[in-house]
Amino acid sequence: MKIDVLTLFPNMFSGVFGESILQKAQDKGAVTYDVHDFREYSTHKHRKVDDYPYGGGAGMVLTPQPLFDAIEKLTNEGETKPRVVLMCPQGERYTQSKAEQFAKEEHLIFVCGHYEGYDERIREHLVTDEVSIGDYVLTGGELASMVVIDSVVRLLPQVLGNEVSHQDDSYSSGLLEHPQYTRPANFRGMTVPEVLLSGNHAKIDEWRRQQSLKRTYHRRPDLFDEYPLSDKDKDYLEQLEKE
Ligand code: ADE
Repeated sequence: MKIDVLTLFPNMFSGVFGESILQKAQDKGAVTYDVHDFREYSTHKHRKVDDYPYGGGAGMVLTPQPLFDAIEKLTNEGETKPRVVLMCPQGERYTQSKAEQFAKEEHLIFVCGHYEGYDERIREHLVTDEVSIGDYVLTGGELASMVVIDSVVRLLPQVLGNEVSHQDDSYSSGLLEHPQYTRPANFRGMTVPEVLLSGNHAKIDEWRRQQSLKRTYHRRPDLFDEYPLSDKDKDYLEQLEKE
């Protein structure tokens, strides 16, 4: 996968792309990151990238020219048509299923504004997706794009050591992940549930399933709206409700 980022603050990305799994993913050849300062594409004599809004009002608006030119160049360089993702609080709320969609693409371009708004023609004619990472406002799209990129890159084949380790993630299955324990079995009197030490895998699977349901019931009951529950799951949840 090729990931291009358009930003006015390219240095913000060096730590995140240069460490841990994201760096390893690039080393393995699963992804290449290219961070571009889109001010360099501005044809204005002072390399301006924003201007006052027509009709007045506070704040500045990013002009179309630098972003159109940058994205046209990056699109023409690539072999496949990229998804162009605009990071903004007005976008569609980001979810694991969107991460799974993005992970199937060959080429993603992220557009990050900072303080400013975007000229509407950028939204209408240039971008394929508008994405928000949550119902709060950041100073810019940079941190938001890093969150999205991290969640996409970890899904690429060969990026996580253990191929199955993301299949049980909270949200991948549609439910929150069950609790996990490791050694020691007794830490300062706090013990590990007996069933996990039993070696009975059918019982362990059942316990994990119930714990996932319980955690989802208490923390994120809204997730059940989208989730197909089995009869056994429903029985367990009914019992939980009685308790
Ligand atoms: N830019 C500013 N706030 C944002 C948010 N919540 N998500 C994505 N991009 C943003």
